[in-house]
Amino acid sequence: MVDLSVEVGGLRLKNPVIAAAGTFGFGTEYARLYDVGLLGGICTKGLTLKPRPGNPPPRLWETPCGLLNSIGLENPGVEAFLQEELPRMRGLGTAVIANIWGETPEEYRELAERLSRSDVDAIELNLSCPNVPGGKIRGGVPEEVARIVGLCRRVCEKPLWVKLPPEGDVLEAAQAAERAGADAVTASNTFRALAIDIEKGRPAFAGRIGGLSGPAIKPIALRVVYELVQKLKLPVIGCGGITSWQDALEFIMAGAHAVQVGTGNFIDPLCIPKIVRGLADWLAGRGMEDLEGVRGCAH
Ligand SMILES: Cc1cc2nc3c(=O)[nH]c(=O)nc-3n(C[C@H](O)[C@H](O)[C@H](O)COP(=O)(O)O)c2cc1C
Repeated sequence: MVDLSVEVGGLRLKNPVIAAAGTFGFGTEYARLYDVGLLGGICTKGLTLKPRPGNPPPRLWETPCGLLNSIGLENPGVEAFLQEELPRMRGLGTAVIANIWGETPEEYRELAERLSRSDVDAIELNLSCPNVPGGKIRGGVPEEVARIVGLCRRVCEKPLWVKLPPEGDVLEAAQAAERAGADAVTASNTFRALAIDIEKGRPAFAGRIGGLSGPAIKPIALRVVYELVQKLKLPVIGCGGITSWQDALEFIMAGAHAVQVGTGNFIDPLCIPKIVRGLADWLAGRGMEDLEGVRGCAH
C-alpha cells in the first residue's frame, strides 16, 4: 500500500499534487469532469478585497511549449468567495488554499484576517502578478516580502504560504518570508514575458507584459526549487511547467514537499489525477510505501 500523504507548511494533504491558483477556478467546473477529491488540494483564483473584472481581451497567448497570460486577477472578491464559492468548495473533499492579492500590504493583512476566520485550510500570499500594475516587484524585494508576511502572520492562525516570483533575488525573498513567519514557500509564479501581435505591430496584451507558464519554464522553476531547498528550513512547494508524474517526481527529488499544477490542466483536464496515479504506481513498482525516501534525493 502506497501512502502519498504529506505534511506541508502546517497542513496535512492526502497527496502532494495541488491545483495552482488561477488555473482551476474554484474547482467546481472540474468537478463535473472527475472527482476532484482525488487532488491534494486546490488553490483558489487570486482573491482581492473588491471584485475585479480583469484585463480586456486577449488574455491568453500561446507560445511554443508555453502560455502567456494577462488575466488581471479577475475574481468575485473575498466576500462573494466566502458566501458562495467556499461552501461549494468545502463539498469537494479536498484541501482549500485561498490565494490572495492585495494592492497594499494592509490589504493583504485585511484579506488574511478575514480568511483566517473562515473555513479555508491555508492562505497563500501571491506576491507577484506580472499583468497588474506594481505586481512585478513585490515578491522580488525582501523588505517588502518581510513587511507583507509579517503583517499577515500577526492576524492569521491558518498555515501561511508565500508564493514568490521566479525572478529577482528569490533566495533572499524566501529567507525574508521565513524570518517573518511563513509556513511554506511556493516557487514559483509566472515569468514576466512579452508577445507582439505582428499584424498590429504592438504588444499582444493591452497591459503589454504577461506571465509565462507551462513546460517552457519547467527547468528554470526546478532549478529555483533545487536551490531554495538547500538554504531554507521551510518546506518548498514546487510549481512551474509540471504536466506529468515524471515532472512532479523531478520536483520532489529536488526537495519539494508538494507540487502545484497550472497550465497542465489546460493541456489535459485530467492531468492532476493522472499525476497522482503515476506517482503511486511508480512508488509501488519499486516497493516503496511513501515519498520520504525520494524527497530531496537529487542533492
Ligand atoms: C491563466 C492563469 C491565471 C493565473 N492566476 C494566478 C492567480 O490568480 N494567482 C497566482 O498566485 N498565480 C496565478 N497563476 C500562476 C499559476 O498559479 C502558476 O504559478 C504558474 O502558471 C506556473 O505554473 P504552471 O507552469 O504549472 O502553469 C496563473 C496562471 C495562469 C496560466
